[in-house]
Amino acid sequence: MSFSTQWDQVYREGSNISIWPWSDLVSYMHHYGKPFSSSTKVLEIGFGAGANIPFFLTIGVDYYGIEGSDSIAARVRERYPDLKDRLRTGDFIRQNYLDIYDLVIDRSSMTHNDTNAIKLGLKNLSAAMKPGAKYIGIDWFSTEHSAFGLGDSIDEFTRANITEGQFVGIGNVHFSTRAHILELFSNAGFRVTRLEHKQTSSEIPHTSHLFASWNLVAEKV
Ligand SMILES: C[S@@+](CC[C@H](N)C(=O)[O-])C[C@H]1O[C@@H](n2cnc3c(N)ncnc32)[C@H](O)[C@@H]1O
Repeated sequence: MSFSTQWDQVYREGSNISIWPWSDLVSYMHHYGKPFSSSTKVLEIGFGAGANIPFFLTIGVDYYGIEGSDSIAARVRERYPDLKDRLRTGDFIRQNYLDIYDLVIDRSSMTHNDTNAIKLGLKNLSAAMKPGAKYIGIDWFSTEHSAFGLGDSIDEFTRANITEGQFVGIGNVHFSTRAHILELFSNAGFRVTRLEHKQTSSEIPHTSHLFASWNLVAEKV
């Protein structure tokens, strides 16, 4: 995989295996992803260990996924044999998407690419969506996050080789401002209809660490 072999390594070592659906994703789908039905074609980019798949099966949409790490994708295909032809290994940035989707779901996956890759990935995904189709992005890291500024600079918004905290060993981490998100999505042919900034810090025990990320809904124009 061109984007990062580090995710594959992390999964082979047995870390970053999230298996429960992410609550923000569930709530965004219910608030902003409706109406959906068995004919709603959903693409999850970077499905990882498949944490969100049980949720998509429960709501009964027409689910597809693409993931860059072959080792984790193969494990997820084993776990969901009925979906094996829908769970592909590949780089979601550089795909020539042949299908057209009603919803694209991204829980903290695009944000592990650098700025140029994100620009390209959003354009390619936009081309594979119907007008009015929604891109739901959960946990795009924010420049307010304590880790912004750690590691090496790849471009204005992207860091790599972070040696402490949640981003150790996983390659590129992209951090966004509000203006940057609006620009990225607008240039790729989307209109952002919802943008929330989330910040979490621990009071007891008190730490100076701040987790900060964006959740968003963007509609293909
Ligand atoms: C933080 S994990 C999130 C996994 C899953 N979305 C979840 O919510 O549990 C990021 C995932 O995106 C994948 N990823 C990042 N960039 C990718 C790319 N360009 N193509 C394919 N997969 C990518 C990584 O391999 C990793 O599995």
